[in-house]
Amino acid sequence: MSKMNVQAGSIKDFRQNDEPLGLFAFEEGGIAAPFLSNAAKKEINAALEDEGFKGKAGETASLRASDGETSRRLLVVGLGKKKGFTADCQRKAAAALFGAAKTRFKSIWFSAPGDLQAAAEGLMLAAYSFNKYTEPCKDRKLESAVLLTQKAGEKSKAQAALERAALFAEAVCWVRDLVNDGPSDQSPEALMKTAKKEIGGGVTLKVIDKKEAEKLGMGSFLAVGRGSSQPPFMLHFTYKPKGKAKKKIALVGKGVVFDSGGLSLKPAASMETMKCDMAGAATVLAVMRVLPRLGVKAEVHAITPLTYNMTGGDAIKPGDVVKASNGKTIEILNTDAEGRLILADALVYASKLKFDLIVDLATLTGAAVVALGNDVTAAMTNDRAALQKLLGVAKKTQEQIWELPLVEDYKKQIKSKVADLKNIGNRGEAGTITAGLFLQEFVDAKSWIHLDIAGPAWTDGGGDYCRPGGTGTMVRTLLEYLTTL
Ligand code: BES
Ligand code: MN
Ligand code: ZN
Repeated sequence: MSKMNVQAGSIKDFRQNDEPLGLFAFEEGGIAAPFLSNAAKKEINAALEDEGFKGKAGETASLRASDGETSRRLLVVGLGKKKGFTADCQRKAAAALFGAAKTRFKSIWFSAPGDLQAAAEGLMLAAYSFNKYTEPCKDRKLESAVLLTQKAGEKSKAQAALERAALFAEAVCWVRDLVNDGPSDQSPEALMKTAKKEIGGGVTLKVIDKKEAEKLGMGSFLAVGRGSSQPPFMLHFTYKPKGKAKKKIALVGKGVVFDSGGLSLKPAASMETMKCDMAGAATVLAVMRVLPRLGVKAEVHAITPLTYNMTGGDAIKPGDVVKASNGKTIEILNTDAEGRLILADALVYASKLKFDLIVDLATLTGAAVVALGNDVTAAMTNDRAALQKLLGVAKKTQEQIWELPLVEDYKKQIKSKVADLKNIGNRGEAGTITAGLFLQEFVDAKSWIHLDIAGPAWTDGGGDYCRPGGTGTMVRTLLEYLTTL
């Protein structure tokens, strides 16, 4: 991953150099820069008007002007209208500032009227690029940005927001790296080793290998790995805060390191992006990586079943019946509905450890993309009050989540003639919900939230602060949720 350093700096230091300054402007009222004299502001606004700059969201202008004392390069980014302005508008505008500066300057100063954490996140997330298999982008110069603060008290507050942004961005960018990595380079064992290495102190790890999983009766989880020569692993990370934990929370993430569909093979085009099928696992691992440094007060566990879904000689076959660790038998009618099979045993495992809340994240169904597209995560829950809290947080982080109902009557779709359950519902009928209902059969907890991130986990075209590839969706929302508990 390529990084971007964002620090707070004082007006005194600012005056001592002539580095470029990034400013933001609403459509109404021109640039926001409380440290400039009215005369300087007036002159700059007149110059912007002369350039035809309107302040529309994402619009940029570059001009040389006097800031009242020094003549320097100004990079001005539009914020759009004041009405409807959100932290995410600030995040996007900061990403546009990165774009305007990246090939021209090594370091810039900036001042932002909106949420400081969001501004810093915008710069850092926009700076991400995946360079494992290529030379890092040669024309990129920008390495650091300094947030201009006026008073001493302001500086330490800003510093805290920037540190938080750096941890959030580190986690998001790590998910992107993990998702973007080639699927043969990232076997369950390789991902386990990476996680062990990168998730530093303050967190303990228990590895459940194939033998241990057999002992625990995880027949559903183990079934999926049978088509691969590489063994599956289930990881269980634990974070305990100093002092008594306020809450005990489990994060469970689907970790199919590549989903070929198995014998119910996917068409070639659908397989192209299936290295993203471990995005749920990557998300919860990334959360664990930064939790200790954020001083989270809850006890948090991450549980990730990791496996390939391949077509080897011993692969599961449609018609096979397997038994999960809660004793329920499952008829596998489609080997491509594998996510629910590995999550079943992970959810049973989590249920036994008695959490106040279990949240699972999974690129689970193509039907979620049909229902909600690529920008919206589908949520299902047995505790709507708990979900409501998470939705409130997501509103703040501006990652879109929409609830789907766990329709009781659709349970008959996953009844099997030869086992307790079958792993698919009726073709073309609420596939995201029947997957959720299937998972619910393995949850024994008062509060459980299932997030189907099949749409938002990946982007073909990229976005304001995201390159094409893995997105790191839901990391910011989970971190915000956990840090405000
Ligand atoms: N990993 C896929 C779901 C997926 C699809 C994720 C598109 C991201 C983008 C999952 O394992 C899958 O194949 N689901 C099947 C379920 C079906 C066989 C009941 C699907 O959605 O087609
Ligand atoms: Mn599948
Ligand atoms: Zn899958």
